[in-house]
Amino acid sequence: MGKFWSLLFLAVPILGVASFAAAPFYGIWLPEDISEHGYAVDHLYYFILWLTAAVFVSTEVALFWFLWKYDADRNPDATQYVHGNHRLEVVWTLLPSAVLLFISIYQIKTWAEVKMDPPDMTPTVEVIARQFEWRLRYPYTKPKQGSWKEGDPYQYGPDDVYVVNDLHIPLDEMVLIDLKSADVLHSFFLPHMRIKQDAVPGSKIPVWFRAKKTGVYDLVCAELCGWGHYKMKGRLTVQTRKEFDIWLKKMQKEQEATK
Ligand code: CUA
Repeated sequence: MGKFWSLLFLAVPILGVASFAAAPFYGIWLPEDISEHGYAVDHLYYFILWLTAAVFVSTEVALFWFLWKYDADRNPDATQYVHGNHRLEVVWTLLPSAVLLFISIYQIKTWAEVKMDPPDMTPTVEVIARQFEWRLRYPYTKPKQGSWKEGDPYQYGPDDVYVVNDLHIPLDEMVLIDLKSADVLHSFFLPHMRIKQDAVPGSKIPVWFRAKKTGVYDLVCAELCGWGHYKMKGRLTVQTRKEFDIWLKKMQKEQEATK
């Protein structure tokens, strides 16, 4: 009977690893990366994935081997339990600590590149998360008054363009977002852009990135924020600067017409 349980136990990690390995062939893997910094995030992801995979596989093999070897059928003598082994305790405390320390040091450069130093520029758009939608505000001035405002990056005016859930950004330009929350914790998640940032009530958090491919992508909330969390999704449209300007003007005209 012990063999049956050993093999059943072994089947779990084998099926787990197999489904993991098969996932990319069924298109259920990381979405396409369309951001400038995405390669660095993906590299970290794969690095940690392989590291944990190695630990997982070796642990499971050892576990199976112990189950198999010390099966009661083949070991009729009563088991002698050992209570504590200081040397082992020290080893299996220090080893994971060293690995975690290594990971935390290893990722510093990427973190610094991607999250530490917001660009000094006018925000492209203000994003206010609320239950359960994304409210967007594009700072806008009429062309005759000068185009996009330079200088004070947080000057918003009466001609701002308001949009809900439909985030548009220009291709191949640095995009800076003012991220806020109107109520509870949300998480601004652009999976194709490798961007995920909590929106925290009372805080204004800068989010920046550069898109490398036009198209329509997902914008979702990645923080359980209430009963409607599941439907808190929008769209990210990456378009050329020309198309973006046309879209923004169109939105502004529509908005003016309803005033
Ligand atoms: Cu907002 Cu989940």
